[in-house]
Amino acid sequence: MPGQGRQGRSDAFQRKARREGYRARSAYKLMDIQKRSKIFKDGSIVLDLGAAPGGWSQVALEYIGEEGKLVGVDLQHILPLNGAQFIQGDLREKEIREELERLAPKADAVISDMSPNLSGNYSVDQARSVELSSLALEIAAERRAKFFVCKVFEGSDFQEFRQSVIDEFGSVRTLSPEASRKQSSEVYLIAKRKKRR
Ligand SMILES: C[S@@+](CC[C@H](N)C(=O)[O-])C[C@H]1O[C@@H](n2cnc3c(N)ncnc32)[C@H](O)[C@@H]1O
Repeated sequence: MPGQGRQGRSDAFQRKARREGYRARSAYKLMDIQKRSKIFKDGSIVLDLGAAPGGWSQVALEYIGEEGKLVGVDLQHILPLNGAQFIQGDLREKEIREELERLAPKADAVISDMSPNLSGNYSVDQARSVELSSLALEIAAERRAKFFVCKVFEGSDFQEFRQSVIDEFGSVRTLSPEASRKQSSEVYLIAKRKKRR
């Protein structure tokens, strides 16, 4: 939204989301990512990690259509969405990973917008963010997903994590979408599988 400060843009995205029926303004981040990187197509199987309240899921469902499949996971309960299956639980727990494996053993795209509960100490939060992102990468690698999108906070072990995405997928793009808040130094890593194993 040109001509506004970033906080103003963030509020404007919030109002726009409400007006257009999206559950979170982060919906526009994913639209931006889709516009640049074409990660979803008709019929894609998508895993949405850290999916509550469901903004990304709404957007992904629009792109994958009725032939697609979407499974979302979050610590929080997510209100039902037509065409989506949701699991409530902590992805760091084995039982939740197993439930995800049962519902979605395969995936074309794994998208993760997971954020830790913020402690106020940036280096602690950043380390937790990398931990969650590494988990998402592991889930994408297990399924040999073709696309991987993941939010991660920049900081000390960011480069190492970024390199592990490159090691798995063969390439990565780093994006700071317009709908991000000013205060955070979060970026999105977007990878398309180039490597064969
Ligand atoms: C920024 S929100 C996601 C917003 C979502 N993409 C949307 O568009 O509605 C981040 C989410 O990550 C979830 N989360 C954080 N740690 C998690 C974990 N260990 N397992 C599952 N979800 C987690 C949080 O509960 C929170 O809902």
